Amino acid sequence: MEGDRQARKRLLGPADVAIDADDPQDERVIDPGDTLEDELYGASLRPRTFDQYVGQERVVENLRIAIDAAKRRGEPLEHVLFYGPPGLGKTTLASLIARELGANFRPTSGPTLEKPKDLVGILTALEEGDVFFVDEIHRLGRVVEEFLYPAMEDFQIDFVVDRGAYAKTLKLPLQRFTLVGATTRAGMITAPLRERFGIVHHLDYYSVDELERIVRRSAGVLGVPIEADAARMVAARSRGTPRIANRLLRRVRDFAEVRADGRITATITDEALQREGVDSLGLDRLDRAFLRTIVEQYRGGPVGIAAIAATLTEDAETLEDVVEPYLLKQGFVTRTANGRRATAQAHEHLGIVRGAPSQERLL
Ligand SMILES: Nc1ncnc2c1ncn2[C@@H]1O[C@H](COP(=O)(O)OP(=O)(O)OP(=O)(O)O)[C@@H](O)[C@H]1O
Ligand SMILES: [Mg+2]
Repeated sequence: MEGDRQARKRLLGPADVAIDADDPQDERVIDPGDTLEDELYGASLRPRTFDQYVGQERVVENLRIAIDAAKRRGEPLEHVLFYGPPGLGKTTLASLIARELGANFRPTSGPTLEKPKDLVGILTALEEGDVFFVDEIHRLGRVVEEFLYPAMEDFQIDFVVDRGAYAKTLKLPLQRFTLVGATTRAGMITAPLRERFGIVHHLDYYSVDELERIVRRSAGVLGVPIEADAARMVAARSRGTPRIANRLLRRVRDFAEVRADGRITATITDEALQREGVDSLGLDRLDRAFLRTIVEQYRGGPVGIAAIAATLTEDAETLEDVVEPYLLKQGFVTRTANGRRATAQAHEHLGIVRGAPSQERLL
């Protein structure tokens, strides 16, 4: 994704680049998208067994049963689709499925499978029972997607050779594999693709209690001492998202090591998170800029996502995937037929009187 690439560039860029503390375009510490840092450090925090995987109990329970049943029958697990906001553990679950099945984990992503040939190369190399993981599966090209249908359904790919009157279809058999797809956009998956998944699960935001358990576990893995109220605070400001919880924890750890004796207390946590622009409810600069745009530029709404995106010079898709779901869930925004509206709660959180002209902002 372009956003990802930008984030990566930023992480790799020179450390002395001036950063405007109020520029919402700056790296979001709570951006739930994958960054290089997550790739480098996230791995060690990633749960390695279902028992280490916190929350999503119903999903995990159903998966365990399905995996158990498939193993007993000596058959591959049915294809699995996970959908939900970024950073909630879709990739983690896919890798746990492979581990639990004792199978190979073969990860790819929709945008990297550009041509049928890319897909054919991977599919023909799969061994019986392998887990073929396709991240961002909503971004598969149409032709590639159509190649997947017979692969998923009958474990074979169809080739058309020759043209016109001589055209014939050759069938190439594949080993029986399990496709695990993940998407932040269930609505963008075509019906024929969706129908080919036997197991479909939605991942929802985590509770503060669950995130607190994740933060404690991660602190243990990282070997940093953290006080109970500090773990709770990190959890409460993580927008319901484990990836953000882990990232905030690393930022707080840095701060505790540089500014204190390394022990993470509530005071240190609060200061570190404020510096990162994360407020008491876990909203960051981009979240607040999103709300402020609706409230100040469009008098509370309704306003279309495209207009908000243009005002913020952000990508509408990013706003819809990454920013909006949590604001909706927390009741800061509502979606109407005419667009987005900021709620009374949003006005209150920003300290703005509802309906007042922007000059009368109470700040
Ligand atoms: N249930 C969980 N318990 C503990 N840690 C978790 C859990 N889910 C996710 N994590 C942590 O959060 C990080 C992000 O999870 P993961 O990469 O699986 O998210 P994702 O849903 O695939 O995100 P994306 O949509 O961006 O690909 C993991 O590295 C892991 O450390
Ligand atoms: Mg992922």
